[in-house]
Amino acid sequence: MQMEQLVALCKRRGFLFQSSEIYGGLNGFWDYGPLGVLLKKNVKDAWWRDMVVGHNEMKRQTGAPGLYEMTGLDCTIIMHPQIWKCSGHYDLFHDDMVDCRESKKRYRYDHVQGRAVTYQGKTIFVTTMETEKTQDALEQAALRFFGIRKKDAGNLAWDGSITAISQLADLSNVLAPDAKTVGTLTEPREFNLMFKTVIGALGGEEDSAFLRPETAQGIFVNFKNVCDSTRVKIPFGIAQIGKSFRNEITPRNFTFRSREFEQMEIEFFCHPSESEKWYQYWRDRRFQWYVDLGLAGDRLRLRDHEKDELSHYSCGTADVEYQYPFLPEGEFGELEGIAHRGDFDLRSHMEGKLVRDGNGLAPELDANGQPKHRGSGKDLSYYDEATRERFIPHVIEPSAGADRATLAFLCEAYHVDQVPNDKGEPTERVSLKFHPRLAPIKAAVFPLVKKDGMPEIAVEIYGELKKNFSAFYDDKGAVGRRYRRQDEIGTPYCITVDGQTVQDGTVTIRDRDSLEQWRVKKEAIVEELRERTT
Ligand code: GAP
Repeated sequence: MQMEQLVALCKRRGFLFQSSEIYGGLNGFWDYGPLGVLLKKNVKDAWWRDMVVGHNEMKRQTGAPGLYEMTGLDCTIIMHPQIWKCSGHYDLFHDDMVDCRESKKRYRYDHVQGRAVTYQGKTIFVTTMETEKTQDALEQAALRFFGIRKKDAGNLAWDGSITAISQLADLSNVLAPDAKTVGTLTEPREFNLMFKTVIGALGGEEDSAFLRPETAQGIFVNFKNVCDSTRVKIPFGIAQIGKSFRNEITPRNFTFRSREFEQMEIEFFCHPSESEKWYQYWRDRRFQWYVDLGLAGDRLRLRDHEKDELSHYSCGTADVEYQYPFLPEGEFGELEGIAHRGDFDLRSHMEGKLVRDGNGLAPELDANGQPKHRGSGKDLSYYDEATRERFIPHVIEPSAGADRATLAFLCEAYHVDQVPNDKGEPTERVSLKFHPRLAPIKAAVFPLVKKDGMPEIAVEIYGELKKNFSAFYDDKGAVGRRYRRQDEIGTPYCITVDGQTVQDGTVTIRDRDSLEQWRVKKEAIVEELRERTT
């Protein structure tokens, strides 16, 4: 599938729009349209239902190593600035970036990639930001630079493989993606990804605060509140869905890397001696969730991080990854990370920012030997009344992106196939084969013709469906065209009221994927659809 076709469908049918489009758009920000908002809400609702409210703490479910409880939170986007100092985001949450002195553009150091190319004895390192058809983009840049025509591309001598410029020893021979001369890139500099804001009308620099770059910290700082107010017992998880903000240097690939996005995070608190078991459980459980909702096949994988990939706090991390069509052949992009965070977060909010010290963690000190960032000083340990043991829980964190999941479900759903039209001739059809739980519209209702009592019955059925599901009414054009319009937005079932309905009160239900049609009594439609879509 070509990504451009999906992007065009998303705009045409109202799934996604560029933010602030009439003013030229704002890079890295996306608006969900009428269908997109339903799709993303269904993704978040499925997550919340499957992970939180539908979880039964009286039963062992889905291979869990023991019984556990789940609860939720909804924290603020702006929190006390000290939180980000203790979490490490203030000092460590940055990317290296390079600026181009010629084009005035800024790039993420590890995102600019290229290859050495020689023409008539002159060698340069030509670069691009393209991830799809990278070699074609590099060739075009080289042709432009050397001022030669496409038909002479065979005279370019390429050397080595495509490499990120962050792997090069120096940048003096690099042609930046949007430059005409070589050597215009600055040395890499660190750029903190948190959006800064000021609290209060008269606020100065000392009143600076940050938009949260992750929802997780709101959970850690409320750990004690949740324990005290709900009497939950370890092991238990706290879940949160909400907006996060990162001032990404090079937002790209549709909603995959945005500056404003939503996360669905769980912080799961357990006894240190059991954390390995729970880590394995969540790693496998979260992978299975995507499989159950339709991301099966070889485009999805679960990848354990190598030791040198682990964050400063992590004892183990695995990523659920999906082969998004905008990535180069064979490459996967992160959908969700499942991390074993040990006791890093709760201890940091108690003691101040921690760093690795030998095999353990210790508060980071400033030049005067004082803690660099002070913690809250509050006791965030847990007392187990049954065992009479006090300990700092370990945390397993499944952290998913709602927008990346929505995008993966969209990519996976996109299909082009041949189906017979009204005259029985094979015609090309585009359909979004969403899992029925995720489909924005669950059913469409059509009167076959606009007479003979059919519209009245169809409107009545539509009204009943609307009380239960998102439904759509369409009486315009040939019925085949109406099916096609619904297929393209992923509606799993279409209900047609025809001459027989007027006689015997039955309607046809047509399945989007199998094209199978069957008749049911109109009173039975709601129940039939409930079984099939929830
Ligand atoms: N609390 C851990 C944490 O935030 P992360 O890997 O930085 O970990 C978790 O983010 C998830 O959030 C990612 O797997 C991804 O799905 C989503 N995410 C992160 N940055 C994003 C961005 N710029 N745009 C869209 N989604 C993003």
